[in-house]
Formats: sequence, C-alpha cells, structure tokens
Amino acid sequence: MRADENELLTRVGPATPMGKLMRLYWIPALMTQELVAGGAPVRLRLLGENFLAFRSPDGEVGVIDHQCAHRCASLFYGRNEDGGLRCVYHGWKFARNGQCIEMPSEPAETDYKARVKLRALHVTEKYGVVWVHMGDRATPPPLPHFDWDELEAGHELSVSFMMRECNWLQALEGDIDTCHVGFLHLGAAGPDDFEEGTLNYYRQLPENLAPKYEAIETGYGNVYCAYRHAGPDHFYHRIGQFAMPFWTMAPSEPMDHIRARAWVPIDDFHSMLVVIGGPRSATTVRKDGTPVPGTSSPIRYLPNTTDWLGRWRIEENPRNDHLISREVQNSESFTGIQGIPVQDQAITESMGPICDRTKEHLGTSDRMIMLTRRKLMRAAAALRDDGVVPAEVDEVERFHNVRAGFAVLPKDADWLDYYNARRAAWSGGAAQPIVRMRRPAARTPEKAA
Ligand code: FES
Ligand SMILES: [Fe+2]
Repeated sequence: MRADENELLTRVGPATPMGKLMRLYWIPALMTQELVAGGAPVRLRLLGENFLAFRSPDGEVGVIDHQCAHRCASLFYGRNEDGGLRCVYHGWKFARNGQCIEMPSEPAETDYKARVKLRALHVTEKYGVVWVHMGDRATPPPLPHFDWDELEAGHELSVSFMMRECNWLQALEGDIDTCHVGFLHLGAAGPDDFEEGTLNYYRQLPENLAPKYEAIETGYGNVYCAYRHAGPDHFYHRIGQFAMPFWTMAPSEPMDHIRARAWVPIDDFHSMLVVIGGPRSATTVRKDGTPVPGTSSPIRYLPNTTDWLGRWRIEENPRNDHLISREVQNSESFTGIQGIPVQDQAITESMGPICDRTKEHLGTSDRMIMLTRRKLMRAAAALRDDGVVPAEVDEVERFHNVRAGFAVLPKDADWLDYYNARRAAWSGGAAQPIVRMRRPAARTPEKAA
C-alpha cells in the first residue's frame, strides 16, 4: 500500500475524502442512557469534530457544536434548560436545532438572534442508541436496516461501547481477519483440548491454522468465507461481513446470529467499538470443562469522565502494556493478556495510532482486508472525483438479511449456495442472492500436520 492510499483510507476529518464518505451514513454515537433529561451535556467527538450531546428536560436529544456562536465559549458549561442550552458567559440560548432563541445581552428590539444558528446534527434514537447524521442534506436517509427489529421484538437486543486508542481502520480490520483467532485468542489450545467431532467449532481452529479464504463484493459491502477441513468429508466455514462504511460481523457463533459491530472514528487516532446485537452463545470451554486460558474475562471499564476521550475506556491500555503477564504467557496462555476483547484491543493499538501500511507484507489470509480497503478507497475517490453517493446510503434494505456465523458443510457443498439459502430463509425468499463475479480456484486446503 502506498502512503497516499493509507492517508486516503484512514483520515476522517471534514475536508478528507474518507471523512466526506462517512458523513453520508448514520453513526451510532452514544448509548441512550448516557443522556439524562435536563442533565449535564456530554462532550462528543466524532470524525475529529467536537459536539455536545444533551437531553432537554422534555426528553428530546440535541447534538450541537460545542462552542457558543457568540464568542466561542464552550457550551459544556451551559445550563440545560427547557427549550435548549444556555451559555453561561452572556446568556445566549440555543435550541436543539442550533437556532439562537434568546440573546439577553443585546437590546430587546434587535432581531440579531434570528440570524445566529449553531451547527446541529440530525439525531434519532433507536435500539438503545443515539444516532447522528453529520452530512449536510436536509433530509437524512433512513437508518441502516440490519436485522435488529427481530431481536428487539424478542427482547434480546443489547448494546455495548468500548473505546480503542487507534485509527478506526486497523481496529475494523481485526474483525474481518478470522485467521488470528487460532493464534491470538486460542493459541494456548490444541485440537485435543476439545471433543472430537466435526461440529466442534473450537476443535477445528487449532487443527488447521491456515484456512483458505474467499471474499466477494456485495451490494452492502463484502462477505468472506474462511474454510478448513472438519474431518475427512466436511469443511468448517467461517462466514463474516463488512458493511459500508464501518460495520463488521464476525463469525463468532453458529450461522444466523445477528450482531453488527461499528468501528466509529472518534478522530484519526481513536475509535469507538459499538456492538448492537443478540446474546452470545458459543464459549471456549474445553472437554475438561475449563475455558481456554486467557479467553474468559469480563471487560473492566474505567469510570466515564467528561473528557472528549473519556467515555467507555477499559483498564488495559498502551501505557500499562495492557497488563500483560510474561509469567502467564510463559506458562498457560498464548498472549499473557486476559480476555479476548482485550487481546484484540492490545494488538491493534500496538500498531500505533495509525498503522503505516507501507511496511506490511499481506498474505493469502488477508484477502478480505485487501478487498475491503479497495472498496473503501474506490467509494471515497468516486465521491471526491464524481460526487457518486453509494447506493446503500439510501437503499438501506441492502443491510437487511446480512448475518455471520460458522457452518460445517459436506466437502462438495458451495458455501455461497448455503449462505444464499439462509438469506432466502431469513427473508421469506425476498433477499437477492449474492453472486460470485469470478469462480474461485479449486478448494483444496491442506490439513495442518
Ligand atoms: S460566549 Fe456564549 S453568550 Fe457569549
Ligand atoms: Fe480477535
């Protein structure tokens, strides 16, 4: 990758091509519960811009520029009153749509306030999340239509946030790189730690650490399948997703589970992992009943602060080496870092604030990453050069019937036929099948010694 391509992909400020692309889509910005009616405004940084999010005493949410339009004092110190935020410097008051509605420091007969407006984002609340749209269109598109309604109807939908101290793209790329699971997370386990049988998800991973990959472009992003032997007659497939512009779905459960993960750029050097989906079912329990060392650990959040970067941080970070224990690394676990999410966090933060991709040497297991970079670069350049808005920005049904998971299939079965059949089942036959543009090479993964 050239340095200019890396810049194009990673920089998200308002003047950058990728930043402009991201501003076409809805962004999951806060948890609903972060904003209390009539409570303190929350400092909110998104795509390198600073806003304040607040919930008025009547319960409605506003997200506006954090600096007062008068002389740029921060409205963070403002009063959350009926109808808007009041700056405590000279008392100007701003409605949730940014309009200045009171200007008590000016003569009563002036209409100056009618001509003063702060930038305000489109806001909506759904699925326990406050969503914002940062673009400048008068009417924003609908929310991306992932299959969350189904989960919500069954009271199975949950949301979590977690800050990561690195650029959004390297964080996202960890989630479409299924090959690392056998090393980073399960490196301490061998196949014999797990029960025999083709349906044992964890047995197949250490049995073959070099799966073959196929990645295909779709109407919403890209889909991949990583596959390896599962006994003499079957392949074990891991099917995962990238959806524009920053969504992933990892195959961490049997096929059909719904859990979309957004890698929201906070700025060029920080990202927020937002997970919206159903409950977990798969665990890493070995046949002796114990988990693989290093895999089970609850996330230890630090208390949220009011800082721009103070929300949803975890205890492990680059300044404490993610609490690595060399002793544990040398005895029981592969990494010496406790917990799968922390291992992901540590390894992507270790690449630096923005990974210098000119130094990489990509392999066959990076096929999905390459396809995803190409798709993002093409979309950002098409918007910059020709004003092309990707179709899925408005055609949000494209995000419907997108799911991830693993499946063990007979060797002669085509995973894409299987996946399309599942899509047809979820949608009652309505979903368009995904088509392969070019037939892949013969699928003959070598079994690891
Ligand atoms: S700076 Fe806000 S009212 Fe003067
Ligand atoms: Fe991981």
